[in-house]
Amino acid sequence: MRSAEGMSNLFQQMERMFGDSWYSYAAMDSSLRSSWALTALLFFLSLLQYSNAQQCDPNDQKALEEFKAGFITQDFFFGSWNGTNCCQWNFVNCTSTGRVQGLNIDNPFARHGPAPVAERNTSYQGVVGATLGDLSELRTLQLRLILFDGPMPNTFDKLKKLEELSMSFNNFSGSLSPSIGGATSLKILRVDGITVFWSNPGLQPAPIPSSFCQLLNLQELGLTSFLLTGKFPECFCKFTHLTQLQLGDNRLAGAIPSCIGSNLGSLQILDLSGNRFSGSIPTSFSRLTSLQNLNLNQNKLSGSIPSFIGDLKQLQFLSLANNSFSGPIPPAIGNLVQLNFLDLSVNLLTRIPSEIGKLVSLGFLSLGRNNLQGNLPPEIGQVGSRSFGLFLDISFNRLSGSIPDVFGSGNISIFFASDNLFTGGFPLSLALVSNVDLSHNRLSDLKPVGTVPAAPRLSSLNLARNSLSGPIPSWLTQIVATSSDITNLDISVNKFTGPIPAVLLENLFNFNASYNQLSGQLPSISTSKLNLLDLGHNHISGPITSQFFGSLLNMMFHLDLSFNQLSGPLPANSGDFLELQYMDLSYNQLTGTVPDSLEKIPTLTYLDLSHNKFTGRVPSKRPPPFP
Ligand SMILES: *[C@@H]1O[C@H](CO)[C@@H](O)[C@H](O)[C@H]1NC(C)=O
Ligand SMILES: *[C@@H]1O[C@H](CO)[C@@H](O)[C@H](O)[C@H]1NC(C)=O
Ligand SMILES: *[C@@H]1O[C@H](CO)[C@@H](O)[C@H](O)[C@H]1NC(C)=O
Ligand SMILES: *[C@@H]1O[C@H](CO)[C@@H](O)[C@H](O)[C@H]1NC(C)=O
Ligand SMILES: *[C@@H]1O[C@H](CO)[C@@H](O)[C@H](O)[C@H]1NC(C)=O
Ligand SMILES: *[C@@H]1O[C@H](CO)[C@@H](O)[C@H](O)[C@H]1NC(C)=O
Ligand SMILES: *[C@@H]1O[C@H](CO)[C@@H](O)[C@H](O)[C@H]1NC(C)=O
Repeated sequence: MRSAEGMSNLFQQMERMFGDSWYSYAAMDSSLRSSWALTALLFFLSLLQYSNAQQCDPNDQKALEEFKAGFITQDFFFGSWNGTNCCQWNFVNCTSTGRVQGLNIDNPFARHGPAPVAERNTSYQGVVGATLGDLSELRTLQLRLILFDGPMPNTFDKLKKLEELSMSFNNFSGSLSPSIGGATSLKILRVDGITVFWSNPGLQPAPIPSSFCQLLNLQELGLTSFLLTGKFPECFCKFTHLTQLQLGDNRLAGAIPSCIGSNLGSLQILDLSGNRFSGSIPTSFSRLTSLQNLNLNQNKLSGSIPSFIGDLKQLQFLSLANNSFSGPIPPAIGNLVQLNFLDLSVNLLTRIPSEIGKLVSLGFLSLGRNNLQGNLPPEIGQVGSRSFGLFLDISFNRLSGSIPDVFGSGNISIFFASDNLFTGGFPLSLALVSNVDLSHNRLSDLKPVGTVPAAPRLSSLNLARNSLSGPIPSWLTQIVATSSDITNLDISVNKFTGPIPAVLLENLFNFNASYNQLSGQLPSISTSKLNLLDLGHNHISGPITSQFFGSLLNMMFHLDLSFNQLSGPLPANSGDFLELQYMDLSYNQLTGTVPDSLEKIPTLTYLDLSHNKFTGRVPSKRPPPFP
């Protein structure tokens, strides 16, 4: 109808404006004629569109002007909000009859650091945004990340057609407006707080308003980080269309209601993390077979991890961390072959099933800080074999036996296994893992387990606080010599004996071999990248040569040779370090005088030369010594 009207208008206008030219048009040859006609038509169509552009409904215009008056106008948000046609303003979407159907202010800058803020107009009387309730045709309202500061508008119950309300990441004071419950057409409701990132001092703890029970059409509900108290509202179990329910980082308590599992079978995302929920996982959760993302991290949940977890085969993300789940990890967990994130850390779990090896898609597996006992199943080597690098944390448990030599697939990039009871030796396939922490175990065997891989990928290896004894083994120097980006090696607090291989000092950035029984002289090295060298508490003897210091001058930051048997004078280049902040040479048998230049190293903040046999003045700058 409108377009037919438009076309006849167009032809009337064409006649009026081009009346005289119709004749010359008729005289044109036909091909020219048609191209000219097309150009003219397009031109007039564009005019038509302009002249027919919706004119904002006066009441809607007034409501928006009033909304704007609640802020000190910031160019970024309201710079275009001038003129008498709100349908042409930024963020405003009108129907063909000029009614506002969408107001979508989403601050893209806030996601990347400092962002413009819609600053509240302190002389404005009334609730900022209250007039939004007059936009009765509104279907979409997004006020995201504008750091809206003040109470939430209280007129949402007038928005009977509103289908999406997204007001996440604002700086609201008070709590959720009960009026939202009256917007009964809502399909998407997201009001996530900012407290995860910023402080929001005006927000008050409060329960979810009971009016929200009316929002039966909801498909997505997100109310994270809003200081919500009370129990999980059981009426939410009537929201049978829900696919996403995110109530994380609140103060909700009590049991997780069984009706979630019975009624909300469409859920794909369920996030109840960071609350105070207690009790066990309801058995009805076995019906949540559409779940892709289940996050119950940081609650007070207990009982065992149910075997039916293996029925939730769509799961990609599962976190039950930081609860009090006990008993063995059920073997059925191996059915979750789509998982790429599994966090069961900080619980009381007792056993790792061998089926864990079926989780080939995992990129993150944390079982740290449990009561895990027994051996590490060799199947662990298969975990993540189809992902691009697995983070694997089993630290702070009571796992024992030797570590299986199964890391050859090369897809594990981080292996944190510190603070367990592992015995035996170091499986050489671990040289294919980038970051390995086996500190504080009972490893005692230096015999090679397996063979050194051709292209080791190790960048950081921590073997501190084990029971390793004997000379530093050749496989270790071979790994350090051949790994492409080896940076850190910590073998402190063991019982290593014999000399320090020069290759370690030549290739590493950080080397801690303190608290061993290493002996012999400081090796003669040609070049070094060392930033940190801690050889304290060993039996190293002989002189510190100027060649030794010479190769360390450029990069050295932290140097500790204390509690050894070093003798002779300090080399003349002792004062030439460029970056040195910390030097401890105490408890040796160094003699001669201390070069003045040493104390004048501008970066130096800690220097201890005490308990040597120096003559003359011995400087000793010392903040608290370390244990
Ligand atoms: C602030 O609010 C007052 C009172 O409503 C209004 O007169 C004034 O125009 C507003 N200022 C801005 C910058 O919007
Ligand atoms: C009015 O809005 C337009 C954009 O629609 C903008 O370019 C212009 O700077 C605004 N004028 C004023 C006076 O703010
Ligand atoms: C305006 O709203 C309609 C209906 O919701 C939507 O289809 C359209 O994409 C929106 N236009 C803009 C520019 O946001
Ligand atoms: C939120 O508002 C409070 C005042 O109520 C203010 O102190 C705080 O800085 C604001 N936070 C942000 C991130 O704007
Ligand atoms: C576990 O949760 C508590 C609060 O319930 C929190 O303080 C702690 O940081 C959490 N720990 C981890 C490792 O997430
Ligand atoms: C993971 O390792 C397997 C061998 O076990 C290999 O076939 C696969 O390509 C690797 N995946 C990636 C992403 O590197
Ligand atoms: C070296 O290891 C010992 C023992 O583990 C530790 O106390 C010391 O702080 C470490 N040195 C440095 C510089 O980190």
